[in-house]
Amino acid sequence: MRTLITNGTIVTAEGSQAADVLIDGETIVAIGAGLAGAGMTADESIDASGKYVIPGAIDVHTHMELPFGGTFAKDTFETGTRAAAFGGTTTVVDFAVQSRGASLREGLDAWHAKAEGNAVADYGFHMIMSDVNEGTLAEMDQLVAEGVPDFKLFTAYPGVFYSDDGAIFRAMQQTASNGGLIMMHAENGMAIDVVAEQTVAAGTTDPIGHGIARKAVFEGEATNRVIRLAEAAEVPVYIVHLSAREALEAVRDARDRGTAAFAETCPQYLFLSLDDMGNGFEGAKYVCSPPLRSKDHWDDLWKGLVKDDLQVVSTDHCPFDFEGQKEMGRGDFRKIPNGLPGVEDRVDLLHDGGVVGGRISRERWVEVISTAPAKLFGMYPRKGSVSVGADADLVIYDPDRKRTISATSHHMEVDYSCYEGRMVQGSSDVVLSRGSVIVRDGTFTGRKGHGQFVKRAPAEYARMA
Ligand code: URP
Ligand code: ZN
Ligand code: ZN
Repeated sequence: MRTLITNGTIVTAEGSQAADVLIDGETIVAIGAGLAGAGMTADESIDASGKYVIPGAIDVHTHMELPFGGTFAKDTFETGTRAAAFGGTTTVVDFAVQSRGASLREGLDAWHAKAEGNAVADYGFHMIMSDVNEGTLAEMDQLVAEGVPDFKLFTAYPGVFYSDDGAIFRAMQQTASNGGLIMMHAENGMAIDVVAEQTVAAGTTDPIGHGIARKAVFEGEATNRVIRLAEAAEVPVYIVHLSAREALEAVRDARDRGTAAFAETCPQYLFLSLDDMGNGFEGAKYVCSPPLRSKDHWDDLWKGLVKDDLQVVSTDHCPFDFEGQKEMGRGDFRKIPNGLPGVEDRVDLLHDGGVVGGRISRERWVEVISTAPAKLFGMYPRKGSVSVGADADLVIYDPDRKRTISATSHHMEVDYSCYEGRMVQGSSDVVLSRGSVIVRDGTFTGRKGHGQFVKRAPAEYARMA
């Protein structure tokens, strides 16, 4: 099957050009002006006049079916990757979980079983490490060899995912020798638990208490600490879901002194705020960790994206229904499952707020949603680029079309939207995954099981920066 995309503007992290794209099977085989006129034949032609042709977006932070607080995130690999595809995301990297006492292997096998035969678009895995011991350290080397080269550790969630500084440092030493990357959830969980208990004791049990207890300074402190540990271990480190200027300062300072520190933020920290959590129990819809911050953090985060102190925008997609799941925390915000839906909306929110809003160029938009994640997570140039030889994961993107975000029309398996009623400019028209059209004009045309596991290389880029 050969597909020719004509008359579009190819937008990549490096620049924009008017050119056609020829796909043969799953791969891009030619790029150039006037390919149709030059006699290139195809089985299908897609007219991209007035549209962008961008590399499929990559979301390197999702949680399909994550167990949390006695329940599970609702999207499966089928529903979650389908919703992602509607929003122009053609690859997700999800977090497999090592349960306390179990092996990394058991956790990874369980995640392979959830995804294989179900995902509609490509997927990879990072590994959440709950125990650091001789057994799991040895397993890390094996996972790197299997294309799962990143490990998430937590200074948050004592008693669940939390690791102490010694364990984190030991895991970092292991990645210094095996080429992997440590991803850190950096909040001071011990201090947060103290303030959370005091907040409840003082009578604040509503979701806003979650925001009060998880102070920005606790994120800043933990971010600085884990970066210092990485410096001591002489390895790169990647800070996930950075939400606060205090944490950004720690990353910026580290980068200024030459440390290979990298970080992502998420749309919720650029577009939502503590105010959203203040509306009684409705605020439970917005409970995630780190929490939403006051609006004055937004500008700092946008500047971080402009200056490349933040390299990636991912979603931390982790959807729980309001009814029946978020409601588990009525009367005690500590029992609200942490996480928000978002895998479907990231590309459009960033286009609308970033490109249309005049904060970042369209090339930088492509970089933070696709190219930088591909480079940092060992998928480039197969993913994250429009280049000959790359996977034909492409999005024909209409930069002018407006749509209103709503739970009544989204495809995520969750009963609310954090962005209900928000109008965004920019939308995916046609989405291709390895040469197959999986979404066309708002209709899913893909297939359950089309998605394949992406065996990723260790991040060369992380080591060189
Ligand atoms: O609230 C969040 N972020 N839930 C998902 C788990 C995590 O810490 O990423
Ligand atoms: Zn986290
Ligand atoms: Zn997460």
